[in-house]
Amino acid sequence: MSDNHTVNAAEGDIDLEQYTQSVIASISSKASPRVRKAFPILIKKLHEFIVEADVTVEEWQAGQVTTVQRDEMVLVSDVLGVESLVDILAFKRTAEAAKNDEKSSSNEVSHSAILGPFYRHGVPVQPNGTTIVRQFEKDAGYTRLFGTVYDSEGKPVKGAMVDVWHDAPDGLYDAQDPSKPQNHCRGRFQTDENGRYETICLRPTPYPIPFDHSAGKLLQMMGRHPYRPAHIHFWIEAPGHKTLVSQVFDRESDYLKDDAVFAVKDSLVIDFVPIEQGKSAKEGYEARAELKDVLKYELEQDFRLTKAVSQEDPGLDIQGLAIGGEPVVKA
Ligand SMILES: [Fe+2]
Repeated sequence: MSDNHTVNAAEGDIDLEQYTQSVIASISSKASPRVRKAFPILIKKLHEFIVEADVTVEEWQAGQVTTVQRDEMVLVSDVLGVESLVDILAFKRTAEAAKNDEKSSSNEVSHSAILGPFYRHGVPVQPNGTTIVRQFEKDAGYTRLFGTVYDSEGKPVKGAMVDVWHDAPDGLYDAQDPSKPQNHCRGRFQTDENGRYETICLRPTPYPIPFDHSAGKLLQMMGRHPYRPAHIHFWIEAPGHKTLVSQVFDRESDYLKDDAVFAVKDSLVIDFVPIEQGKSAKEGYEARAELKDVLKYELEQDFRLTKAVSQEDPGLDIQGLAIGGEPVVKA
């Protein structure tokens, strides 16, 4: 792994059988004998189908059944390791494209990770350096998040769109809590001429995926908890490049080894670096100066995109995915 959180395309490959075994191994020994007999077969056959049919992210998303509350299909799929498996297959295709890219300087790529159910289309673009924390969060881990988006040749990508979203300190996304301001802990930025983006966000917190319906029943049957380690989501798109959907995980978080949805990859585990009060405010964006008294951490997170394979490469298009009961309109 390099310093900017990328992996070599070959080294980043994940063994599919090992992955399926890890999902099966998550079933608790306290689960009923019937579950311990039937669920490994269910997971194995389900994963075999996904792998043999080489299901793409777009196909998986097209199969979602959206409700006004949330997408339970996503959650059921997540706890059985399906969304992460589809993501691993997508990464294999990306890594293959990187290996075949003669202009790629080092075959370095960023690991992808699952989208999850809380992405929101059409979030307004805001200036670099401004915060995505829409209401003051007392004692929260205010973090200067910044980095550079690179292309496959290692050159900065100007004008890439970077979506960032994470949960609030209470473990809820804006879409789950109507009392939160719209787009709280969620924002969209365009990289500058040096390929850089910057915002002020919060150090996220572990949270349980909604477990009051089918996904929760499955977790209960398997004797598993519903928690995810603390993470920040990213969606990065730029013309001529494959869209990158990823997450980064707080190294000090609980549940890194037993993420309820199996999304953690070593190269995506990152450190929140404590900063001296006011130090980051000495230079850079004005908005950072306004929050200098509450800034606690810095997180530098670079990304490396791969070239779109062809003009027909559709990237991701998930219109129809609804969040929090709102119709989704692509910006
Ligand atoms: Fe999340």
